[in-house]
Amino acid sequence: MPKFTILLILLALVKIGLCHIFVTYKLYSGLIKFKILENMRELKNKPGGRNQSSSRLVNITPAIVNNQNDVEDFSECFAVEDLNLYYGTSNHALVDINISIRKKCVTSFIGASGCGKSSLLRCFNRLNDMIPECRVEGRITLHGTDINDPSIDAVALRSKVGMVFQKPNPFPKSIYDNIAFGPRLLAIKKKRILDEIVEKSLISAGLWKETKDRLQRNALELSGGQQQRLVIARAIALDPEVLLLDEPTSSLDPISTLTIEQLISELKKEFTIIIVTHNMQQAARVSDFTGFMHMGALVEMNSTDVIFTNPRERKTEDYVTGRYG
Ligand SMILES: Nc1ncnc2c1ncn2[C@@H]1O[C@H](COP(=O)(O)OP(=O)(O)O)[C@@H](O)[C@H]1O
Ligand SMILES: [Mg+2]
Repeated sequence: MPKFTILLILLALVKIGLCHIFVTYKLYSGLIKFKILENMRELKNKPGGRNQSSSRLVNITPAIVNNQNDVEDFSECFAVEDLNLYYGTSNHALVDINISIRKKCVTSFIGASGCGKSSLLRCFNRLNDMIPECRVEGRITLHGTDINDPSIDAVALRSKVGMVFQKPNPFPKSIYDNIAFGPRLLAIKKKRILDEIVEKSLISAGLWKETKDRLQRNALELSGGQQQRLVIARAIALDPEVLLLDEPTSSLDPISTLTIEQLISELKKEFTIIIVTHNMQQAARVSDFTGFMHMGALVEMNSTDVIFTNPRERKTEDYVTGRYG
């Protein structure tokens, strides 16, 4: 064989060898990078990791939360520290509440009538400011910002933290005008933009299909369940981050209740939801975390599974098993 051909073959072999080494190196470094990312993700989610709440707040493990794969979504939304609430001088309605509310999760508060659930809910959007004899002490932060700081505009806060009440309360206006009401107050005038907001909000609230052909009809013509979804859509139109639901199904029939519960599971993909309910089965069905309240105090808060199957406190066990309440 001529020397020149041997040389060419040798050169080709060297080239193949070099390529092989290069490809192996790339694969190996990629694998290491992937492993490092995996480890970081695990560390962040471990108790005490970066995505966990501070130790003095109620410690709950986000790993149990359903359908939550994004590490970002495990972060804290509200932190409540040493919250006390008084009506006048004699009624100490909330006593030393410390809790952490997780972003894009459903947190429910259960407890007997008069234990302070609604009072607590109203603290998250400062609705108690409207009650003259009500005094709130302690600290509530939303992503680290104290919501009771004098620099915080309560009206702006309420558009970020929307609220839905026990009884649906649509305005006596058209379906369209109910949803467009908030955005119009924010000086959104263009019909095209309002149309988009109305459609998007009604879709999110699971009401678009039922109403798209009668947007100009009076909202009071809708059924109770539809009115409650309309009110949820009205809150969504303000682009909130949190939805507070105060016994949202207590005035509804079982079918409408089920529709709202299914809607809550959909809504948590986009919003953080805090719900007050006296219906334990509802809390068990819809929420990731549950807090049990008794006479103004938070007895126990944990993942919903733990609260209903293995609560720490005797009082919680008595309540969830129906021995008390
Ligand atoms: N606007 C108010 N003015 C005075 N007292 C109130 C007011 N709202 C609630 N309370 C009192 O605060 C306590 C807790 O009530 P509430 O938060 O409504 O409980 P729940 O929602 O668990 O039924 C009760 O004693 C109730 O009477
Ligand atoms: Mg209430």
